[in-house]
Amino acid sequence: MMRGRFITLEGGEGVGKSTQIHAVAAALTAQGIETVATREPGGSKGAEAIRTLLMEGSDDRWDARSEALLFAAARADHVARTIRPALARGAWVLCDRFVDSSRAYQGGGGGLTDADILTLHRVGSEGLLPDRTFLLTVSPAEAVRRLIARGGSDRMGSKPADYQARLGARFIEMAEAEPGRWRIIDADAPTEQVTVAILSGLAEWL
Ligand code: TMP
Repeated sequence: MMRGRFITLEGGEGVGKSTQIHAVAAALTAQGIETVATREPGGSKGAEAIRTLLMEGSDDRWDARSEALLFAAARADHVARTIRPALARGAWVLCDRFVDSSRAYQGGGGGLTDADILTLHRVGSEGLLPDRTFLLTVSPAEAVRRLIARGGSDRMGSKPADYQARLGARFIEMAEAEPGRWRIIDADAPTEQVTVAILSGLAEWL
């Protein structure tokens, strides 16, 4: 059976994930590869509707468990309607955040365990994992500069500082635990250089 590649970008906010998704998609398209650029929460009609529930309103709109379930439900729809069909026809899917964001944000900071999040993922999305995940890291000063430049943050990004602080460490921990899947990219570097680094992390399939 033909199967494309499933590639995800992870990291905190303001690390340039969406810019890189589009740059990498353009580079792959130029090589004749069909690419699908997508994002979470969202990426399908139902998941975009759930995204609105998650992104709007006050910081305490959802408790940790409801929030984790909503992310898992959005992901299930996205996987079933967008990601699996694309992979099945041989396309490469580039996704801005995936289950590792739930592991970092809901599992690491929201009181649920990593095993809980992976169980929700098994039920919702039959445990689909990326072939490669890039963790984009930036220094704290650079992250603040970029967040201000893009005009502040949303409901998820307005969580307390200690919640934000646990994230970076949690992402690194996940990356180090599964080195075959993850690549850590220094995203303080200029945009073009970051794109080159990501493409070289895909070179084995090109
Ligand atoms: P973004 O559009 O800037 O990536 O924002 C998405 C926000 O949602 C970001 O604060 C991270 C958060 N998020 C989770 O908490 N869990 C998840 O599973 C995903 C995909 C995103």
